[in-house]
Amino acid sequence: MPVITCIDDLKRLHKRRTPKMFYDYCESGSWTEQTFRENTTDFQKIRLKQRVAVDMSDRSLETEMIGQKVAMPVALAPVGLTGMQHADGEILAAQAAEKFGVPFTLSTMSICSIEDVAENTSAPFWFQLYTMKDDDYLRRLIERAKAAKCSALVITLDLQILGQRHMDLKNGLSAPPKLTPKSMADLATRWSWGLKMLQTKRRGFGNIVGHVDGITDPSSLMSWTSEQFDPRLDWKKIEQIKEMWGGKVILKGILDPEDAKMAAKVGCDAILVSNHGGRQQDGALSSIRALDPILQAVGGEVEVHLDSGIRSGQDVLKAVSMGATGTFIGRAFVHGLGAMGREGVEKALEVIAKEMDISMALCGKRKITDMSRDDLLIPEDFSGRWTA
Ligand SMILES: Cc1cc2nc3c(=O)[nH]c(=O)nc-3n(C[C@H](O)[C@H](O)[C@H](O)COP(=O)(O)O)c2cc1C
Repeated sequence: MPVITCIDDLKRLHKRRTPKMFYDYCESGSWTEQTFRENTTDFQKIRLKQRVAVDMSDRSLETEMIGQKVAMPVALAPVGLTGMQHADGEILAAQAAEKFGVPFTLSTMSICSIEDVAENTSAPFWFQLYTMKDDDYLRRLIERAKAAKCSALVITLDLQILGQRHMDLKNGLSAPPKLTPKSMADLATRWSWGLKMLQTKRRGFGNIVGHVDGITDPSSLMSWTSEQFDPRLDWKKIEQIKEMWGGKVILKGILDPEDAKMAAKVGCDAILVSNHGGRQQDGALSSIRALDPILQAVGGEVEVHLDSGIRSGQDVLKAVSMGATGTFIGRAFVHGLGAMGREGVEKALEVIAKEMDISMALCGKRKITDMSRDDLLIPEDFSGRWTA
């Protein structure tokens, strides 16, 4: 087994072992990728303080997200097509999250279905919902998540319409991949991926195929998204969905303080400050830059989580010290999965936990819940001064 020291090591293996079409789907942002890039580079602008001569023994990363105990303030984000990065990917990632004691979020656009994941795990997971035009399908999807005992609904608000990612068009992204001379040549060098894929029956969109009238093969994500996703989503519909669900709700994709206030008003258990990992509005602020104005806007009325750009435990530490209750990781766990399956996701979580633990200690703190803005050096103009 190769020596893995950081998420980048897993990313390199992911690139080598997974078909180009799926690696590119993961490792890209929309249009010029400005927001995708700044999600990570903006984290580097915040610095951690170093304190000495304090007792650093008996440390703990344990905390809570939406009232649920977590081993560290990190959840696995919903990632479409996870089961194409590695056979049975969603099940393996959910099992790794369960072992580690952090929440797993299943995407609507997953390969393994809600029922598949429920049957192969024992800890309740979270379900991410894309809102569809077909109300019956939406209702059935929510009922299926309830039947699977999902413990929170994560409603994604920033993808009513799909941002363009150039590589997906160029690669002809589909699940399963269409066999062309180009894709076959690529698959020939990823034989281990192909062998595992041949051994599983889960190769299509598990939550959709067979569950949507008239749709038997939504193999192209792009065309299905443009046909089925509801571009008319508004706060009223969000309230209706919330009522239909009746349990804990996280509103995902908030980047503007006004939207954050609306989300708090509609009532939810947490908002997730996110720009979809730079895959939607290119030119939007990085999530970490957007965090502070949002925290001020909601003033503790609702729990605030953050994702987009987290590649290390230090990044989590910075977000939490700034005031986020928890964080989500997308690509960081997908790199682990594409590199080494379940073991790789466990490795990604271990890497992040270790980085967070040691950096917290070097800040002179023993508990993650004691970290605060006092542990950070934040540039004065970090949130930016913009004309109204
Ligand atoms: C390959 C990929 C697929 C994604 N699919 C979904 C999805 O189906 N639903 C959703 O709400 N977010 C989706 N996201 C966004 C993630 O939930 C999360 O917001 C993002 O990955 C965070 O950024 P990070 O990858 O830099 O950690 C996806 C992200 C990636 C990278």
